[in-house]
Amino acid sequence: MDSRWSSLVLVTLVLATLQSGLSGVEAASLGTWRVVKQNAGISSMHTAVTPNVGSVVMLDHTNSGPTNLTFPDGRCRNTTYDKILKYDCGAHSSVMDPDSGVLRPLMVWTDTWCSSGQFVADGSLQQTGGDVEGAKLTRSLSPDCYAVEPTTKYCDWQQNNVTNTSTPLYLKWQRWYSTNVLLPDGRQIIFGGKNSKDTNEFSPPLAKNQPARTMAFLTMTTDSLTCNTTANPSCSVNANGPNNWYPYAFLLPNDTIFLFANRDAIMYDYKKDVVLRKYPQIPGNARNYPSGGSSAMLPLRWEDDYQSADVMVCGGATNTSNVYALGSASCGRMKVTDPAANWTMEDMPIPRIMGELVLLPDLTMLIINGAMAGYQGFRGATAPILTPVLYSPDMALGTRFTVLSPAITPRVYHSTANLLTDGSVLVAGSNSNQYYTFTKPSNVVSKVFFPTQLSIEAFLPPYALAAAGGRPTITSVDRTVVQLGQILQVFFADFAAGPATDDTFIFTMNSSPWSTHSFSHGQRMVTLKVIGDIAFQPGSDANGNPQYTRQASLAIPKYASVLPPSYYMLWVVKNGNPSIKCTWIRITK
Ligand SMILES: *[C@@H]1O[C@H](CO)[C@@H](O)[C@H](O)[C@H]1NC(C)=O
Ligand SMILES: *[C@@H]1O[C@H](CO)[C@@H](O)[C@H](O)[C@H]1NC(C)=O
Ligand SMILES: *[C@@H]1O[C@H](CO)[C@@H](O)[C@H](O)[C@H]1NC(C)=O
Ligand SMILES: *[C@@H]1O[C@H](CO)[C@@H](O)[C@H](O)[C@H]1NC(C)=O
Ligand SMILES: *[C@@H]1O[C@H](CO)[C@@H](O)[C@H](O)[C@H]1NC(C)=O
Ligand SMILES: *[C@@H]1O[C@H](CO)[C@@H](O)[C@H](O)[C@H]1NC(C)=O
Ligand SMILES: *[C@@H]1O[C@H](CO)[C@@H](O)[C@H](O)[C@H]1NC(C)=O
Ligand SMILES: *[C@@H]1O[C@H](CO)[C@@H](O)[C@H](O)[C@H]1NC(C)=O
Repeated sequence: MDSRWSSLVLVTLVLATLQSGLSGVEAASLGTWRVVKQNAGISSMHTAVTPNVGSVVMLDHTNSGPTNLTFPDGRCRNTTYDKILKYDCGAHSSVMDPDSGVLRPLMVWTDTWCSSGQFVADGSLQQTGGDVEGAKLTRSLSPDCYAVEPTTKYCDWQQNNVTNTSTPLYLKWQRWYSTNVLLPDGRQIIFGGKNSKDTNEFSPPLAKNQPARTMAFLTMTTDSLTCNTTANPSCSVNANGPNNWYPYAFLLPNDTIFLFANRDAIMYDYKKDVVLRKYPQIPGNARNYPSGGSSAMLPLRWEDDYQSADVMVCGGATNTSNVYALGSASCGRMKVTDPAANWTMEDMPIPRIMGELVLLPDLTMLIINGAMAGYQGFRGATAPILTPVLYSPDMALGTRFTVLSPAITPRVYHSTANLLTDGSVLVAGSNSNQYYTFTKPSNVVSKVFFPTQLSIEAFLPPYALAAAGGRPTITSVDRTVVQLGQILQVFFADFAAGPATDDTFIFTMNSSPWSTHSFSHGQRMVTLKVIGDIAFQPGSDANGNPQYTRQASLAIPKYASVLPPSYYMLWVVKNGNPSIKCTWIRITK
């Protein structure tokens, strides 16, 4: 028997065992799934949850040919440059209310394929790069456009229409498979990507005509592209590399950047363009595109004044030229602020390629989406993993992973995962095909065909629902714009019949990242210190039942390198149960 088949059989058996193992367990304790929308009309490869409104911005690429969403007013793009469809009446972006599933198509003029972005200080969504005519462009979506019911007639992506390369917002190199980090000064720094000449650059640049900066680290971590399509038309150009696109990047508390690519990592002083230190190599497989590992920086905590940071890197492909090769189960975790930092390895219960790591309000982390075998790229992976896994970072090594309830829909290449304002996680996208393709083309091996996915689901993690008290409700905050270092008052109801005794409360803040390609750009989270006691006041709920309102004074971190000015979701977590909604807080300098 062909060795590919034997590994496929193994994968199928593992999957079957995992799924049957769930049948005897109470589903609710392992989280619950809901379909948000069966047909969203587009397959979102970049997704972000909007500040204040809490709607979901979805963005695909424009060079995809027809989508399944059109504009109600019949608008079409009539271009000379679109590679596939010059007269295109399909929408390639939308904004959706995740409760009702109601959505509004958004116009985007040029190609945004495999791009990057962040919500910046004023709450607008700033997107960078893409492919072909969109390669060096930036686009922005105004907070005025986050509502599903538009207040102005055309509330769409605004493009920086550039014809002059010295115009400040024009990118120096194509930003395709690049990674963005929001900086304390409100700019983004963009690292690497395809055709980026192994550089980083600021958007907007610090000065007009500022050149991009070459990073030897990116050159060093590029695996060679040995696939020769002339010699072997069926091989993938992603076959043996580069393994460093969409590098993992995090802003560290000392205002430097932790940058990880392939298996290597550095601490980078982005102001001086200096590599401050090089970390030990992570054991095991390569992790970045097309290996399809994933990464997150665990929550920064008030107890040590936010001075230490742990980074997790999980999964990825073990052989980027074999769709049937079982992926990696290994995760590495490293306290990157420790002078003697090294990776501590732990194994996920399921190997995973193209998972998304989502930081949850209760300080756990969800590992969701992806596949068990193969690698990133069109039809590169097989054996989708329906079951999310929960990682509890504060438990003892060896006891941190819990397998949760399975989804219905496979989410493979080009899928996303984002924390919503109700504490659930929205999953969207999955398109392993260049175009919108719903039936298997005749030339495709059946095992690796997945139809373009237009559905959207949400997963409510189990949290600690069985614990006393249920989920609290934030009733108000004393202000929604808070300066770094200030105190914020939060008022909340928690259905208790009296003052807290052995209840535990924690207060956390999450950024709203840009999810794409198994990495959430700009994902970060902090815990907040309570000043003094949590006060309480007797009262009653809407049904006349006794209900205490509590009040806590929360110390917002002093450092812009801990919370770069932007919008954050504030959560009250009681006994492991996050509030039923977060409240958005704008952090300013
Ligand atoms: C999307 O549109 C195509 C072309 O109109 C159609 O064949 C297909 O059934 C639609 N798919 C879905 C899921 O709506
Ligand atoms: C698209 O634009 C071209 C060039 O301006 C024009 O000739 C053509 O009629 C337009 N097509 C449609 C369908 O509007
Ligand atoms: C950008 O270009 C699009 C398409 O050519 C055009 O419709 C739009 O008005 C332009 N926007 C600006 C701000 O120039
Ligand atoms: C491009 O911008 C530069 C700097 O603002 C200006 O000097 C130059 O004239 C512009 N070129 C064109 C073609 O507009
Ligand atoms: C690719 O393969 C073709 C056909 O075998 C050969 O002529 C060509 O030199 C190869 N290209 C490279 C870069 O090796
Ligand atoms: C960041 O931390 C490194 C190592 O601990 C140190 O050498 C460096 O000076 C720090 N950078 C800043 C800007 O504080
Ligand atoms: C990776 O897979 C390819 C294709 O199946 C195979 O030829 C190659 O030997 C594998 N490499 C390793 C290191 O397993
Ligand atoms: C880091 O840990 C690995 C084992 O996981 C070990 O082989 C390596 O020597 C360590 N590196 C350093 C610099 O301590």
